[in-house]
Amino acid sequence: MSVTPRLRTVGILTSGGDCPGLNAVIRALTKSLEVQGVQVFGFLEGFTGLAENRYIRLESAQTSGLLTVGGTVLKTSRNKPHRMPTGDGEFRDMTGAAIENYRRLNLDCLFCLGGGGTQKNAFRLLEESDINIITLPKTIDNDVWGTDICFGFDTGMTIATEALDRLHTTASSHHRVMVVDIMGHNSGWLALGSGIAGGADVILIPEIPYDLEIVGESLLARMERGKMFSIVAVAEGAVSKEDAQHLEEIAEAKRKAKTRKKKKAKDAPLKTEHTHEPVSAILAEHLEEVTGLETRVTSLGHLQRGGIPTPTDRLLCTQFGTVAANFAMEGTFGCMVAKRGQDFVAVPLAEVVGNKRTVPLDHPWIESARAVGTCLGDIPATGYISEE
Ligand code: F6P
Repeated sequence: MSVTPRLRTVGILTSGGDCPGLNAVIRALTKSLEVQGVQVFGFLEGFTGLAENRYIRLESAQTSGLLTVGGTVLKTSRNKPHRMPTGDGEFRDMTGAAIENYRRLNLDCLFCLGGGGTQKNAFRLLEESDINIITLPKTIDNDVWGTDICFGFDTGMTIATEALDRLHTTASSHHRVMVVDIMGHNSGWLALGSGIAGGADVILIPEIPYDLEIVGESLLARMERGKMFSIVAVAEGAVSKEDAQHLEEIAEAKRKAKTRKKKKAKDAPLKTEHTHEPVSAILAEHLEEVTGLETRVTSLGHLQRGGIPTPTDRLLCTQFGTVAANFAMEGTFGCMVAKRGQDFVAVPLAEVVGNKRTVPLDHPWIESARAVGTCLGDIPATGYISEE
């Protein structure tokens, strides 16, 4: 019978864009490991701290009160171990240094809190060494593959929903169209969730390429029903049908260039020809013209990533942190902690990387949005339920 070696020292890092809940996970990990006699170090600024051996000692007393604090006390960066900026515009591979520092501190496990990029970087370290890694899925975009939910998402959605609520009253007072930019480059979870919760009239997400004419017509149809204002929630990665086709051609050209190995993917000719203007600006201009209503654009930006986490996120983060600590105690490594239904499971990192969790087109949220008459930009809104 194999005996799991005792866990003595671990490291934690937070990498990628920040989000509410990172501190809550740091707290949960530290508290639950410390009572088991484990010493915890926190690397500063993501993988940079690991590569440069910059860290702090984390103790329960220090993490007390962190449950509700936004951001990350460990700070963060988007730097990758294999591509660390040297400060003069150049990059160098510091994978070896990162692994060396893990060993120097006699770590038994490294916890990496982050989104898709972090999962990839953690996996690279695994491929290069035999170090023990456990990752946790963080992002307001909710697009990490393998888990039903990422921490930070509920808070981002709550903030965006409140913004939509507030924009509703001013839109209605002025008879205006409000186009609202919501984060989400590759997936529309945030725009869709907050759009439904905030009663947006149009929701545009990357998964459903939109037709500008159809969006315009849906606002005109609202005006015919006496609704002289509209709210349009747009994910930052939303694309028109034409752009989607163009992007597909680019992707195809890249794939061909790659398989032929004749030239690098980035040299594919179509890439330079394509300019992706901000969707919200194009939409606003068109909608103002079609409806004759004044149109304003509001970009929620990094507001969605700041401040205190919601109770749902605090609870989720505490669970993620304590489950991750348990996985480490029992010797389950090389995985991401994922939530599936009410359970927390260990998903091999090799399965997580390279996959994105986008909104499935048959997702119940999409069905419900359509059923209440929300236009998703692809087809005229149907099933309108009168609010009168
Ligand atoms: O990773 C989440 C995310 O919030 C995306 O939705 C957004 O596009 C991106 O981060 C912006 O990040 P930053 O401005 O920090 O680079």
